[in-house]
Amino acid sequence: MKEISPEIFYVGVDDYETDLFESMWPLPEGVSYNAYIVKGKEKVAAIDTVKIPFVEEYLEKVEKVTSFDKIDYIILNHMEPDHTGSLLKLLEKAPQAKIYCSKKAVAMVKSLFNLEENVHGVEEAEELDLGDKKLIFYMDPLVHWPETMVTYEAESKTLFSSDAFGSFKGLKEGITDEEVDYHGYIDETIRYFSNIVSKYTKYVKKALDKLLPIEIKIIAPAHGLIWKKDVKHIVSLYQQLADMQGEKSILVLWGSMYGNTKLVIDAVVEGIEEAGLKVTILDVARDHLSYQIKETAKNQGIILGFPTYDGEEFPPVSFYLDMMRRKNIRNRIVGFFGSSLWSGRALKKAADKLKTLDWQIVEPLLEFRGKPAKELLSQAKELGKQVAQKVKEL
Ligand SMILES: Cc1cc2nc3c(=O)[nH]c(=O)nc-3n(C[C@H](O)[C@H](O)[C@H](O)COP(=O)(O)O)c2cc1C
Ligand SMILES: [Fe+2]
Ligand SMILES: [Fe+2]
Repeated sequence: MKEISPEIFYVGVDDYETDLFESMWPLPEGVSYNAYIVKGKEKVAAIDTVKIPFVEEYLEKVEKVTSFDKIDYIILNHMEPDHTGSLLKLLEKAPQAKIYCSKKAVAMVKSLFNLEENVHGVEEAEELDLGDKKLIFYMDPLVHWPETMVTYEAESKTLFSSDAFGSFKGLKEGITDEEVDYHGYIDETIRYFSNIVSKYTKYVKKALDKLLPIEIKIIAPAHGLIWKKDVKHIVSLYQQLADMQGEKSILVLWGSMYGNTKLVIDAVVEGIEEAGLKVTILDVARDHLSYQIKETAKNQGIILGFPTYDGEEFPPVSFYLDMMRRKNIRNRIVGFFGSSLWSGRALKKAADKLKTLDWQIVEPLLEFRGKPAKELLSQAKELGKQVAQKVKEL
């Protein structure tokens, strides 16, 4: 329990136990479920709760800040169970509290908790007076679910932003960017954005357009670091991510069953490095998809190397391509290389899938039979150089 601003308390918890977030995304450094208590002179509001396994720790923290009978409102910004899981347990302790959520969330509160009474669906920009403090609610649909809203506290100028601006990684080293160096959280912010939020980039942009004209001194998301010192930094990172602007660097994502495709990687990397760009290399079959998606969001240039398999791309690449579509990762510059033995064609099929996401294909697609010949290796180096060059020119 920590005060992030006068009479605004952090009562969230760290989760270092769950292996996979949403049963999909690895959590090597954990994740936090951020919840807050806002104490006005007259009224007290709890903002979000935590995932149910951590309810005891959460309630202990709440009780250190306020007695339960003083809680007037429970604000639910987003209905995903990582934030609403402890609602019923909190209501057992604070049955007088009125639930405030978006109008779209009202039906979800009924479906998930069978609650109808004492539930208020708020209007866009509706205000809730707590005395000296005032909460204002803004709808933030599809960041990350259709019912999501954010809550702004007007006196401290704190934006409780739900999943927006959030990241993976627990907060045991400190909860704000005043306490810890934010650089250690950036990659986990990009991974959170690209894995969880990026499908709805259009809505992230809409939300930014709506919220950024408001003066914001503190961003208090539902996961990860609370931003006080460098609010501008997280905002500009989010703008870049929402605009699908990667860094001027290259991801080489490769797979190979018998080592023929693998023999080409060094030449590709040599070409990229000669052009002066940094390169990240991931194995599509062994490095987790979560990091493949994150590195694709992070790098503007992508080079994919994989063999033909049953007339199509090597299967882990299919999963990756499908995720590019589902997570809506757009506007990359992409090159291809890979081995086949009989009729090939996997590279062309994969390239066609990416065209629909506005990925710019760098020709030629370097498909070769069996083991790469010397001539192929110099073409591969040229491919690396060309992709890097196009990224540099952006
Ligand atoms: C299960 C399997 C399916 C394959 N399907 C095709 C195919 O449909 N078309 C083709 O041209 N080659 C196909 N091949 C041949 C591989 O593309 C070829 O062996 C290639 O050199 C493997 O590259 P790698 O050493 O990088 O794994 C297949 C190989 C395997 C093992
Ligand atoms: Fe969510
Ligand atoms: Fe969440």
